[in-house]
Amino acid sequence: MRESELRNLLDDLSVEEKVGQLFQLSGSFLVDNAVITGSWDNQELSEQELAVTGSVLSISGAGEIKRIQEECMSRQPHHIPALFMLDIINGYHTIFPISLAQGATFEPELAQRGAEIAAKEGAAAGLHVTFSPMADLVRDARWGRVMESTGEDPYLNSCFSAAMVRGYQGNDVREKGRLAACVKHFAGYGAPEGGRDYDNVELSERTLREAYLPAYEAAIKAGAKLVMTSFNSLNGIPASANKKLMRNVLRQEMNFDGVLISDYDAVGELLNHGIAEDGKAAAKLAIEAGVDIEMVSQHYLRHMSELMERGEVPVELLDQAVWRVLKLKNSLGLFENPYKDADEEAEKQIVLCREHREMARETARKSFVLLENKEEILPLRAETGKKIAFIGPYADSQEICGSWSFPPKDSGVVSIKKGMMEKNPAAAMCFHEGCYILRQDWCLKNGEQLVFNEDKAKHLMAEAVNAARGADTVVLCLGEHYQQSGEGASRTVLQIPEEQKKLLREVTKVNSNIVTLVFTGRPLELEEEANLSKAVMIVWFPGTESGGAIADVLLGEKEPGGRLPMSFPYRAAQMPLYYNRFRTGRPSEDGAIGSFRTGYVDQVDKALYPFGSGIGYTRFQYGSIWITRQVLTGGQPILAFCMVTNVGKRAGTETVQLYLADLHASVIRPVRQLRGFQKITLAPGESCEVVFEIREEMLRFWDSEMNYVSEPGQCMVFIGHDSTAENSAQFVLE
Ligand code: BGC
Repeated sequence: MRESELRNLLDDLSVEEKVGQLFQLSGSFLVDNAVITGSWDNQELSEQELAVTGSVLSISGAGEIKRIQEECMSRQPHHIPALFMLDIINGYHTIFPISLAQGATFEPELAQRGAEIAAKEGAAAGLHVTFSPMADLVRDARWGRVMESTGEDPYLNSCFSAAMVRGYQGNDVREKGRLAACVKHFAGYGAPEGGRDYDNVELSERTLREAYLPAYEAAIKAGAKLVMTSFNSLNGIPASANKKLMRNVLRQEMNFDGVLISDYDAVGELLNHGIAEDGKAAAKLAIEAGVDIEMVSQHYLRHMSELMERGEVPVELLDQAVWRVLKLKNSLGLFENPYKDADEEAEKQIVLCREHREMARETARKSFVLLENKEEILPLRAETGKKIAFIGPYADSQEICGSWSFPPKDSGVVSIKKGMMEKNPAAAMCFHEGCYILRQDWCLKNGEQLVFNEDKAKHLMAEAVNAARGADTVVLCLGEHYQQSGEGASRTVLQIPEEQKKLLREVTKVNSNIVTLVFTGRPLELEEEANLSKAVMIVWFPGTESGGAIADVLLGEKEPGGRLPMSFPYRAAQMPLYYNRFRTGRPSEDGAIGSFRTGYVDQVDKALYPFGSGIGYTRFQYGSIWITRQVLTGGQPILAFCMVTNVGKRAGTETVQLYLADLHASVIRPVRQLRGFQKITLAPGESCEVVFEIREEMLRFWDSEMNYVSEPGQCMVFIGHDSTAENSAQFVLE
C-alpha cells in the first residue's frame, strides 16, 4: 500500500479501531493449543473488542493462521489484517542450541543462518514476527534467563544480536521466508537484583550505556522492526512507563522508529509496581512512555477512548502508535497478501527438512565447550571394540531443547543413544538412566509432577554402577532439568542436581575413565565434576540434532568448537561474576585469597573456567604480539599481529581473542574488554599470522560528564586463547 493510502486508512479509523490495533490478544483465547508463555487469565473480550484486535500472540501453523486471519479481516470494519507473533527463540520446529550455546560458537554467521532457517519455517507456518533476539546482557547465573542470552560480553552480544536480526529479516521483511525481528527486553532485564527474575534493576548510567545498551542498539542498527519493553524497573521506573528510556534513549538517541511492544502483561504490572493506581493510569503511563502495542493485558482496550475523550491523552499520541503498527503491517506486505507466506504444503516440506537439521547439528557441535580432557580421553576410541557405558538421565532423553522451544512431539529429537547408535551401531555400547533427573519437588511450569520412588532409584543406581564396572569408558550424561533454567527459573544453587551428583560419585568409585557431559542453560559449579572426571564437556541444550552432534564430537569426527560466553564460577556465591569488571583500589594477585584485598577470605576471586575458555582436540601456541606503531591516533589505526601455530597432532580451529585495556582514565575502566575475535583452522604444524585492527573508538567510554570519549594514555592489547590471556603489548593513545 502506498504511504498516502495508509495515511488515508489511519484517518478513516474510529477511535475503537485505532485502540484495537494497539492490542495483542493471547492465542489461547482463540484456540486450545496455543503456546502459553505467561499467566494472564482475564481473557474476557466483547465481540466488538475482538473485531478490532490488531495482533495475536502464540498461534502457529499455516492452516490455523489462515483461518483466523480470514475471520479477523472479515470482522475488522476496514478489513485490516492481524499480525501473528510468536517466540521463535532458538528455532521454530528445527530446534537449534539455546541462545547461550549459540554465543559459545563465537560465530555470529552461524546464528544468522540459524535465524534464517527459523524465519523460513516460521513464515511458512503463517507467522509475521518473532520475539527474538534477546539482547539482554547477563552477569548473574542465578537468573534463569541467561540461557536466552548470548552471554556476558557487550561486544559478543552485539555481534550476535545484529546477526540474528539480519538472519530473520534479510534485506526486506516482505520477501518470502522472512520474519520481522523484535529485540528484547528493553532495557537491563538481565540485571535483576539477586538474579531473581522480574526483580528491580539498579544500574549506573555508565554501566547501562557501556555494558547493557550496545547489544540492543546493534540489533536496532541492523534494522529490527520491533522492540519489546522489559518487565523490570530501571533505577526506579518500570520500563513500560519509562518515558526517558523509551522516548529519549530508544527513539531519539537510537533512532528507533519501529513498533514498541510491551512484554506480557507488563502494562498491567504497572499496578503491582505501585506506579499506576488503576488500569486507566497504567494505560496513560504506557502510551506516554511510547508503548505502541500492549501485550495481552487490556488497559488500552478498556481505557484509551475515555482518556482521549477527556483530553488526557492527545490524539496525536494514539495516532503515532497506530501509524507505526500500520507501517509494520505494510512493510510485511500484509495489505496485499494478508497470509504472507502461510502455506500448508511448503510448511510440510520446509519444517524440519534435512538441510535445516544439518545446520542445527553443525551449530550444536560448534557450541560444545570442552573444559577438561585429561590424558586425551576424548575423542573416544570406539572402533577398537572398547566398551562404552552411557550413564545418566540424559543418556537417552529427548528433553534437550531448552525451555524456550516448542518442538512438536513427533519432531524426532535425537537423543544421545539414538545419535550414537546411528553413528556407530557396531560399537560395544550400553545406555542406563542411572538416576532420576531431580529428587526434590521442583516447581515444573508445565504442571508435571516428578514422581520419586526410592526402590526404583536404588535399582537404577545399582544397574548403572554395574555397567560402569564392566566398561572401559563411562560417559556420564548429566545436567539441569530443562525447566531449571528459562523464564521464572532463578536458582540459588548452581549445581547439577544432587541425585545426579550421587550417581557421579558412585560411578567414579568403580571406574576412573569418566567423560562428563553437562546439559545446562547456565554456568554451574563444576569443581567436583572436574576432579572426578577426565573430560568435562558443556553441551548446553543442543536441540533437535543433539545426539548426532554429540556422537560426531565424542567419536572425533569433529571437534568441540565452543568457548564460554559466560564465566563459570567455583561457587554460586561469587555471582555476579564476569571478566570485564572495573578495576579496584585493592586488586588481588590473580584473584588469590588474601586479607584486605578485593575478593574473599574463603574463595579465590576468579572464575573456575573463565570467559572465552574451552579446548578442542589439538593445541595452539601463540607467538608474541607485534604492533605496527606504538602510538594510536584518531585517524590511524594500529595493526596487531600474532603468529598462532597448531602444535598438536590433528587439524583444529582456534578462536583467537583480542582484548584491550585502558590503563589510566578519568573514570575507572574495566580490567580488559573483548574487542575482536577470529576463528582460524590450521593443520598440524601449520602457523597463521592473525591480524587485528585497533582503532581509537574501541577505547571510548562515558566520562564523568557522560560524554562518550577516549582519553590519551597508556593502553594494552592482549591476544590469546581466552579472557585471561597474558600475551600482550603496550601502546599509547594520543
Ligand atoms: C517473556 C517474553 C516473551 C513473551 C511472549 C514473556 O513472558 O518475557 O520474552 O516474548 O512472554 O511470549
